[in-house]
Amino acid sequence: MKSILVSGGNSGIGLQAAREFVAQGHRVVILGRDQRKGQEALASLGEVGKQAAFFAVDLSTHASLREAAKRLLAENDCFDAILHTTGVFTSKDIRTVDGLNLYFAVNYLSRYHLMQLLLPTLRRAERGRVVMMTAKVDLSTNVDLRLFPKFEPFNFRRMNDQIAIGNHHYAAHLARTEPELLAGVVNAGAAKTDILRLSPWYIRGSPQS
Ligand SMILES: NC(=O)c1ccc[n+]([C@@H]2O[C@H](COP(=O)([O-])OP(=O)(O)OC[C@H]3O[C@@H](n4cnc5c(N)ncnc54)[C@H](OP(=O)(O)O)[C@@H]3O)[C@@H](O)[C@H]2O)c1
Repeated sequence: MKSILVSGGNSGIGLQAAREFVAQGHRVVILGRDQRKGQEALASLGEVGKQAAFFAVDLSTHASLREAAKRLLAENDCFDAILHTTGVFTSKDIRTVDGLNLYFAVNYLSRYHLMQLLLPTLRRAERGRVVMMTAKVDLSTNVDLRLFPKFEPFNFRRMNDQIAIGNHHYAAHLARTEPELLAGVVNAGAAKTDILRLSPWYIRGSPQS
């Protein structure tokens, strides 16, 4: 039995992954922001849901992420794998309390920050694994450090690719600096989930589509 953290596991791709992990007999800790969705996610796992726990946390702010990491470290000696499926999708320049763009804060920075704080738990695993779910990006894209971390002036198109390539860059960094870990990135493709909930109706499409 492995211990697996699914960040963003209270819906969509993360929930499906959590479902498959518990079905295979693993213990799963799910992170998400919405407490109600988290409880519904646990209930949807049925009997094997006893092997899963939900922890509500807003990962978009430095302070609450640090608090969450402190609690995860206190309650979990070892994680064999961490799957990052946290994400929002919005072309608006929504800012977090730290003054960062929400999309950047959730889809990239929170993963980096959480991983760095939880590395001790993965190092205790026999062969720890880290997977980051992100969108398709041309791998020839260069990281433009002048844009980080403020993304001002805001330009969604430029930011979008930078966030996706940032995930690749960080996974490559982990693979290089933590030789005992397996780290990688998965392109989510196009899955019908809740990811467009912050987008206008003409992007979300009709309820039937
Ligand atoms: N679906 C696609 O076609 C597609 C395409 C390309 C990339 N992706 C990427 O794949 C990943 C999974 O997306 P999905 O489609 O499964 O979408 P989803 O169902 O909306 O899942 C996103 C997850 O992120 C969590 N989250 C968002 N903001 C958070 C915050 N501030 N703090 C903590 N948790 C937060 C959500 O929890 P709450 O609901 O509680 O906020 C939810 O569990 C995302 O990174 C997404 O960008 C998806």
